[in-house]
Amino acid sequence: MTQAFLSIQNVEKYFATVRAVAGVSLDIRENEFFALLGASGSGKTTLLRMLAGFEDISGGDILIEGTSIAKLPPNQRPVNLMFQSYALFPHMTVAQNIAYGLEMEKLPKNEVTARVADILKVIQLGHLAGRKPDQLSGGQRQRVALARALVKRPKVLLLDEPLGALDKKLRSEMQLELKRLQHQFGITFIMVTHDQEEALVMADRIAIMKDGALLQVGPPKEIYELPRSRFAADFIGVMNFLPVTANSGAFQARDGSPITATHVNDAVGTGAAVAAVRPERLSIGEGGENRLSGTVSAIAYHGLDLLLHITTELSDTPVIARMTADVADRHRPETGQPIALSWSARDTHIFPA
Ligand SMILES: Nc1ncnc2c1ncn2[C@@H]1O[C@H](COP(=O)(O)OP(=O)(O)OP(=O)(O)O)[C@@H](O)[C@H]1O
Ligand SMILES: [Mg+2]
Repeated sequence: MTQAFLSIQNVEKYFATVRAVAGVSLDIRENEFFALLGASGSGKTTLLRMLAGFEDISGGDILIEGTSIAKLPPNQRPVNLMFQSYALFPHMTVAQNIAYGLEMEKLPKNEVTARVADILKVIQLGHLAGRKPDQLSGGQRQRVALARALVKRPKVLLLDEPLGALDKKLRSEMQLELKRLQHQFGITFIMVTHDQEEALVMADRIAIMKDGALLQVGPPKEIYELPRSRFAADFIGVMNFLPVTANSGAFQARDGSPITATHVNDAVGTGAAVAAVRPERLSIGEGGENRLSGTVSAIAYHGLDLLLHITTELSDTPVIARMTADVADRHRPETGQPIALSWSARDTHIFPA
């Protein structure tokens, strides 16, 4: 087996009695784009700060290419962190802010100038190079902070919500730009984001963090399609949960109808459980093994698709079904209409209640 590039080994962090990071072990490959997702307070920033050296570790070890970096000060680690609440130097221009880190490294002046010009082009702020931070919008400031981290070309770049202040359109442009830069410079990225779609689009692998621990780690498709816990199923994307009763591997919905499922969680026993299915896996009519009927109670139009809210006896909360624009054109759903849906066993997960 090849040695991991960045190896996080049973890392712990206590703040007095608060266990902010609870024994995280993770191997990250060179040039990997890794995304950390998790609720507020789950330990994401603390983990990044320990990787960057701004926080001591309470236990465990951190290795890069087989050598421990856990005791090195931040400036001796080949790691750069773009903070969640970044601070630009207010008295320096955009260009000076970006150049600062390179000047500290005592790079030749012409190389500093070239690299700053290069990165300004990438973040599309060349025309604002002479402005001070307080003359920029929030999104522009965030792009400068990003440029300042990228321009140093660290081996590992840690990004804490790097695109949080950007509007949707600029955000998706910067997502592609970040991916391109990562390939171009061969940087390993670890990015914290609250935006699951961003994680699914950008990352080679995703980790879901909860209460300081990693709940599930895997490629986006696996995280989305094969959640290993109810929390993971609920956390990523939209998931419908229907209460069922489990009895020797068979499952019954509330109205007594059978539910068949390919993915049954190991922790499911006898008695109360839940069946989970994604909105896009529900279709109109009777094609799949599992069925439900109900009434359309609301329709949310999203352009590319519609989300139907369906009131059904099988659940206390409305079931959400996604309908693509072409299907919606054929069926013309309306609120108040009765509707029958079906879905496949292979799209059905069973979790403990
Ligand atoms: N310096 C500190 N002293 C005491 N407790 C702290 C300190 N820093 C963080 N914590 C606690 O550690 C836990 C993890 O915090 P952390 O900032 O890592 O969460 P996060 O996942 O980054 O959250 P968010 O998504 O809100 O940024 C929280 O319970 C937080 O209150
Ligand atoms: Mg944080």
